[in-house]
Amino acid sequence: MSSQRPKISLKRISRRSTLGLLGIGVPSGIWAAAIEPNHLSITRKELILPRWPKALDGFRIAQVTDVHFRPGDDEKLIAKVREALALESPDLIAVTGDFVIDDPSSLPEFARALKDLSATHGVIASPGNHDRWHCRSHNLKKEIEGAGMTFLSNAGTNLHIKGENIFVNGLDSIWGGRPNPTRAWRGHQKGTPVLALVHEPDPFDELHQSHPLDLQLSGHTHGGQCRVPILGYVPVKVKFGRKFIYGHFQKADSQLFVGRGIGTVGLRVRFACAPEIAILTLRSA
Ligand SMILES: [Fe+2]
Repeated sequence: MSSQRPKISLKRISRRSTLGLLGIGVPSGIWAAAIEPNHLSITRKELILPRWPKALDGFRIAQVTDVHFRPGDDEKLIAKVREALALESPDLIAVTGDFVIDDPSSLPEFARALKDLSATHGVIASPGNHDRWHCRSHNLKKEIEGAGMTFLSNAGTNLHIKGENIFVNGLDSIWGGRPNPTRAWRGHQKGTPVLALVHEPDPFDELHQSHPLDLQLSGHTHGGQCRVPILGYVPVKVKFGRKFIYGHFQKADSQLFVGRGIGTVGLRVRFACAPEIAILTLRSA
C-alpha cells in the first residue's frame, strides 16, 4: 500500500492569506477612516441613584465629551450633534473636556461650533488634559463662557429645581491641570446630590471614597476609539483611563459613566466605537 502526500503550495497559501487580509483590511480601513468617525450614535441609559430626589425622577443629562474639534473636518459631525441635542431637549448638557487636540486656535472655532446649545437647566463644561496642555486657562474660561456654557474647573454650582437642590461641579484635568477636589466641592451642602464632571475616569476610585459623589461623568478614553472585536478591547490604554474604559460603573452609592466621546486623536479613525452622545436618565431609588 502506498501513500501519496498532497502537495501543499506555501506560495498559494500565502497568496490566499494576503488576499483574505486585504479583503478584510481594505474595507475595514475605509470604514474606520471615512464612515465611522462621522456616524453619530445616541446611547440611552437609565441610572438609579439612591440619593436622587423623587421630584427630579426622570432628569435627563446629555453628555458630550472629547470633541477634539478639527476645523475643516468636523463641521458636519458637529451639525449632527447640535441637531441630536435639539431633538433630545435634555435638562442639562455636560461637556466633559478635550475641546481641542493640540491647536489652541481651534478653541474659538470649537466655541463657535457649539455656541448657544439649549438645555432646560444649562450647559456645563469642564476641561480635559488636551485643553490644559494647549490652551491658556483664561482663554478656556472666556471662550467657553462666551459660547453660553458654564465653565467649572475646581468649582461647583448649586442648581435649584422643583424645590430641590443639586450640586454640579467640575474638576480640573487630572493629567493636564491642577485638580483640587476641596475647591471643587466648596459650596456643597450636606445631603445634596452631586454630579461631578471629571475628564479622566480613573480618579473615581478615590473620589467616591473621599467626597460625596452620586454620579461622575467622564470621557478621556474615547471608549478605546478603535476597538478590536473578538479580542474585545483597546489596543492602547491612556493614562488615568486604564480602569474604566467605557460605560457604567458603580461603587457603593456612587456611579460613574464614561462616554465614548465625539472626536478622535491621532488619525481621524474610529472602529467598532462610534462617536456618541449619551442620554442619561436619572431615577430616584
Ligand atoms: Fe480625548
